[in-house]
Amino acid sequence: MITEQPTRRFVPIAALLVAVGLTTLSVGAQTTMQTALTAAYAKYKDLKEGKNADYIPALAAVDPNLFGIAIVTADGKVVTAGDVKTEVSIQSISKVFTMARVIQDDGPGAIERTIGVDATGMRFNSIVSVEFAKKIGGGPEMNPLVNPGAITATSMVQGASADEVWAKIIGTYNDFAGRGLSVMQDVYKSESDTNQRNQAIGMLMHAYEYIKSDPARATDLYTRQCSVGVNAKDLATMAATLAFGGRNPVTGKQAIATENVPYVLAVMATAGLYDDSGKWLYHTGLPAKSGVGGGIIAVSPGKFGIAVVSPPLDDAGNSVRAQRAIRDISAALNGNPYGAGVPRPVATSGR
Ligand code: DON
Repeated sequence: MITEQPTRRFVPIAALLVAVGLTTLSVGAQTTMQTALTAAYAKYKDLKEGKNADYIPALAAVDPNLFGIAIVTADGKVVTAGDVKTEVSIQSISKVFTMARVIQDDGPGAIERTIGVDATGMRFNSIVSVEFAKKIGGGPEMNPLVNPGAITATSMVQGASADEVWAKIIGTYNDFAGRGLSVMQDVYKSESDTNQRNQAIGMLMHAYEYIKSDPARATDLYTRQCSVGVNAKDLATMAATLAFGGRNPVTGKQAIATENVPYVLAVMATAGLYDDSGKWLYHTGLPAKSGVGGGIIAVSPGKFGIAVVSPPLDDAGNSVRAQRAIRDISAALNGNPYGAGVPRPVATSGR
């Protein structure tokens, strides 16, 4: 249920702007975006660094040359470069939208109290981080973007049956993407056959009473959500929905309440690129999220949502080409929210 928006009082002004065509992206701005995307695509197309994830066998078989970039603007314009149609599995990017569902239904306090909103400083599927969180204060010292927190967040989506919970999860993703998404069955099967570690994490989270319902069901739903197929355009639309107050700029549908968006973005900024989240934020200032399928989404609040799909990953599990391309494009478009509109050159050192 979407609550009434605090931004409602601005609607007459927005309506007026639409009426006189002022919210439409200017041709110049669209050309600047296209130039930035085309340049990044050309620069990184032949980059061979990184390696597909292979701990889920189906991911190892994905074409490593797949490379697509999409950006979605306030008025729903989609600017692209490369292959933005081929689907990959959404993987950990799904965690953002399940978290958004829980925040929308239960309020931001539920995530903060039950899971936490702090970086763990450990790998995304760390079990030690759970033990550590218990030891240092007994309280939640995790976040919904690492597996223990993510499986717990999935368990918090309410529903009388697994089907009901799934309908809520996929319905939320569809609202953000602006179309009906489906599970890639080959990935779901491959991940279900090899997700013993996540099953163990689910059990542990149940033993420690973070998960109050059946942990096997939560882990299975989590595995299913990770297997949803998306292309670069879907992901950019999902990112843009977060960039523009929870309203999908392509369909006009309010996916989550505007007041809940800052909580989602804050966790993305804190933990979206796992061990490299600080480094990423340092260079881009953009809340972002990666997935081992090769996608990364990033949000420039009020400006654009961007996504890149390219399967080869670095040691931290983040797509190599996606990180580089988003960094360049955002610099060219002054996307850094901390930059206050001042043009920033792309740093020549570091990743
Ligand atoms: O839990 C897993 O292993 C995967 N389904 C998702 C992991 C993932 O995408 C981590 N990402 N960077």
